[in-house]
Formats: sequence, structure tokens, C-alpha cells
Amino acid sequence: MVGVVDRLRLIGPAGSNRVMAGELSRLARRAGLARDLVAPKKDGPGTLVYPFGPKLGALAATHHRTSTRVVWDLWESSAARLEPLYASLLSAVQADTRSLLGRDFRMSVEAHNVREFAAGERQVVGTVKNAIVDGLAARGLRARVAPRDAEVLFGVRLSDETVVVSLDLAGRPMNQRGYRDSIGRAPLKENLAAMLVMLARHDGRREPLVDPMGGTGTIAIEAACMSEGRPVFCAPRRPAAAELTYLAPHASSPEPLLADTRATVLTNELDPLVFETSRAQVQRAGVESQVRCTCGDFRDLDIDSLRSLVPGGRAATGGGLVLCNPPYGVRLDHLGERELDVLYEDLGRFCRQLPGWRAGFLVANALFEEAFTRGARVRPRIKKPLNNGALRGYFLLYDL
Ligand SMILES: C[S@@+](CC[C@H](N)C(=O)[O-])C[C@H]1O[C@@H](n2cnc3c(N)ncnc32)[C@H](O)[C@@H]1O
Repeated sequence: MVGVVDRLRLIGPAGSNRVMAGELSRLARRAGLARDLVAPKKDGPGTLVYPFGPKLGALAATHHRTSTRVVWDLWESSAARLEPLYASLLSAVQADTRSLLGRDFRMSVEAHNVREFAAGERQVVGTVKNAIVDGLAARGLRARVAPRDAEVLFGVRLSDETVVVSLDLAGRPMNQRGYRDSIGRAPLKENLAAMLVMLARHDGRREPLVDPMGGTGTIAIEAACMSEGRPVFCAPRRPAAAELTYLAPHASSPEPLLADTRATVLTNELDPLVFETSRAQVQRAGVESQVRCTCGDFRDLDIDSLRSLVPGGRAATGGGLVLCNPPYGVRLDHLGERELDVLYEDLGRFCRQLPGWRAGFLVANALFEEAFTRGARVRPRIKKPLNNGALRGYFLLYDL
């Protein structure tokens, strides 16, 4: 049917395609959907597109931690001007037989990356809204535009000069999990923390994880949640997919996919106020039995007790994972080059007391590599460009 499409779109930061695909196939295996999954198409450096299936869509909207958005592409148009855009989307919406909420609803439309279209963003949004409202009205459904309390959030994107209209299956960015308390010092975006856990290949069944400069505990919380395959959103927050008649039967389970896996995670933080925030967030995320929070300088952590950490799941490997995003000397940490150099060197010394472990870092400071490896012949096994928001950085993984 012209203009009606059926695709699942995962959107993440630039450079996230492999990680997002890896996470979705892991989730699909755990949920018994591996056979439904085909290789995705890439639509840019941080976008994957799959054929849509209601089970797969619901699974991604409830469990996919490394994406920033999980959306369902519904309609598209190759029109290059507003009038034909309205006409083609209207006929697509009218012709579409899929039920969304199965009743009247409040909706909103957001534009992403439509600068190349030959009209302003607000005009594109207005045209798409009108086409949806009028198209649904022709099907006997009333959609009311209500940006502040929308039940259904539509997104408009340009992909290869085609306007794609999608329904946001979570109804919000995936990183708004519902456990973040208040902003600590430079907290890591939740989906970026999940990316680090994936890139370091943390196996929560077999290896403990330690974040020595854990700030508000984002890496620790994400690692614990991923080990169990927990839903992304903490109650009472739910993804929009849980309300959609088409997907609801598949999105209703709040149960972890691997409830028998118990990770062992430690997050340590120097600043007492930030440490208190980490404790509150760990509780709110419901992972206090897996994540221990400590307050102090990482140099004072007792190495023997770290070495003897054993994961709560199956047999331990004897190894473990240090995973961290250390201060970079920007934003609020006020550290000068000399202090950072000492901090990174000490971090290197700290890690090398844990032979057999791996250590992964998200760093956006050129001083790090030399200072971290000073006095030791170590090179990163993985060095991958990875930005932290606007800061250009790298993910580095070392075998210790
Ligand atoms: C970039 S932030 C980490 C943010 C964290 N990933 C989060 O999501 O909140 C670095 C943290 O390291 C802490 N820190 C700095 N020096 C430390 C030290 N010697 N020992 C422990 N923590 C330290 C800072 O207080 C800061 O909270």
C-alpha cells in the first residue's frame, strides 16, 4: 500500500549501530524471538531499521537499553513540498487498517532532522499533524493535538529524502528510565552507560563489575539491570507500547528476562553528596541487592575484597571488570592537567592490582592513555571513537 510502511527503527548516538544490533539480538534470544530477527539495515551511523513485528517492537520498547529512541515507522512520503506531503500522508493514514490505541487519543508530533526539507520545521510538523488528524477522522477516530499530555508521540524524520512518520514506542527518550534522582557531577546518559557495559562485554553471570569513580552510579545500575534483562523503565513509568492495542499483549510483562541472574556490582564515589545520590538511584532502580555503593577515594578501596567478589550467578571466572568514566577536567570537576595526570596514573596502578580482569573507560581527555599505562607495557585491546554528548572521546578496553 503506497505510503504505509511497517518498520522498527532503533535510534542511538553516532557509532552505536553494532552495539544496538548486538543488544537486540541478545534480547531476542532471551525472549525466544531469535527466529523473528533478520539483519538490520543501517540508516546512518546511529540508526538501525528492522522489519516490524509486534513482539519485537514491544520487546525493544520495554527492554532495549542502548538506544535513545525506539520507534515504529508507519507512513512515508517522497513528496518534496508541503501540499503533496499532506495529500500523500492523508491517503496513507486513511488506507492504514492498523489499530493504534483502538480509541480516540491525545497526540503530539516532533520533528527530527528535517532541515533538508523545502519548508520550515514548524510547517512540516503542522502538515504532518493535519494529515494524521484528518486521516484518522476519515477512519472514525478522533486524535486531538495536546503536546503537554500526549498519549501518542509521533516523530517525523527525513531518510534519503523521504519523509518518514513514526510512532514513538516508548513515548519518550529511552534514557528517561525513571530512576534518575538529581543531577550529579557530569552524570552519564543512561543509554551511553549501557553501551559501555555492552562494549566491555560484561557477563553478569560470571564476573563482578567495579566502577571506582562511579558518580551517581549509572554504569553500575545499567550493568545490574542488563544482567537480569530488566525492563528499561522503572514503575510507575511504562512505555507507550504498553497502551497500544496492537502491541499491549506483548508488552505487558514487567518481569526480567533472566530473573535468575544476580550481578555483583560495586560503585564507589569520592563526593559524599554524589554518593548519596548514587544510593538513592540504586534503590529507585530496585537493584540494591546487586549493587553496593561505597564512599571514598578509589585508592583506598581494599583490593583483596575486590579480588574476592564473586558474581551471584553461576561459576566465577576469577576475573572481573573495571568500568568507569573518569573526570575529564571539564564541566564541574575543576581538575587541572597535573591533577588529572596523577589521577589517571593512580587509576592505572589501581587496575593493575587486578590481573586477569579487564578495564574499560569512556574518556574525553588526551592525557589519559599515556598516564594510565605509565610504567607498564599495556595497550588498549579496543579503542573506539565514542562521544560523551558534545565531548569527543574514546572507549578504551584493556586486558589487565
Ligand atoms: C565523570 S564523573 C562519573 C559520572 C558517573 N558515570 C555518573 O553517571 O554519574 C567522575 C566522578 O569521579 C569522582 N571522583 C573523582 N576523583 C575520585 C577519586 N579519587 N575517587 C573516587 N571518585 C572520584 C567525581 O566526584 C565524579 O563524581
